[in-house]
Amino acid sequence: MADVKISAISSINADLFSLLLEADPSEEIIRGYINRAYKFVAWLSDIPVGILLLLDTHPNTVEIVNIAVSKDFRNQGIGSALLGFSAEWAKGKKYKVIEIGTGSTSFEQLYLYQKFGFRPFSIDHDFFVKNYNQPIIENNLVLKDMIRLQQYL
Ligand code: ACO
Ligand code: ACO
Repeated sequence: MADVKISAISSINADLFSLLLEADPSEEIIRGYINRAYKFVAWLSDIPVGILLLLDTHPNTVEIVNIAVSKDFRNQGIGSALLGFSAEWAKGKKYKVIEIGTGSTSFEQLYLYQKFGFRPFSIDHDFFVKNYNQPIIENNLVLKDMIRLQQYL
């Protein structure tokens, strides 16, 4: 696995914002959580290759609201490192539950999150139809529903 370092950041530059858009295509939705989120970057040497935003949502619960790795650096374990970091960080902050939501058509992401121990607990029907202006096509399917997954820490 790549030698990744993960550190907290306080502001997001244009390159990192573009990366956030790869996980969440709505700039408006990102702007709704970005200032409230704990923000982290994954570095490979001095290159920022991944981003992670964690949000305090309900009592004892933190949600991974955005996780993305630059295209050229995917499938090298960086996303896994960010997921592992999220759980350790949340345990350190005494959260009891960590959550993540993703599209029902996001097969790779659903694989990765379940491999990490996340389990589905609800479906947000039509989330992507109601909250996004443009239709989202993924894996040749129109994305409509969000699968919400959680893990007890
Ligand atoms: N189908 C199934 N599995 C796949 C596929 C595929 N088409 N492509 C890759 N994989 C597997 C890999 O084999 C690997 O699994 P393995 O460790 O068992 O071999 C795994 O998926 C990828 O693991 P990593 O390398 O640790 O993850 P990566 O660094 O590629 O990051 C991420 C994963 C963050 C999802 C990245 O693909 C990405 O940035 N995608 C675009 C943005 C995105 O979709 N973000 C998540 C949205 S949800 C949210 O943000 C809350
Ligand atoms: N990932 C993604 N897509 C795949 C994969 C894969 N690993 N393997 C095949 N596909 C796609 C094919 O490309 C095809 O899609 P396309 O039409 O867009 O090209 C599709 O899956 C398969 O379509 P068909 O050929 O119409 O279906 P098939 O005759 O293969 O039957 C079935 C599908 C019934 C699921 C068969 O694979 C099967 O018997 N599996 C084992 C039993 C099973 O799992 N049954 C369902 C359990 S749930 C239940 O029974 C209620």
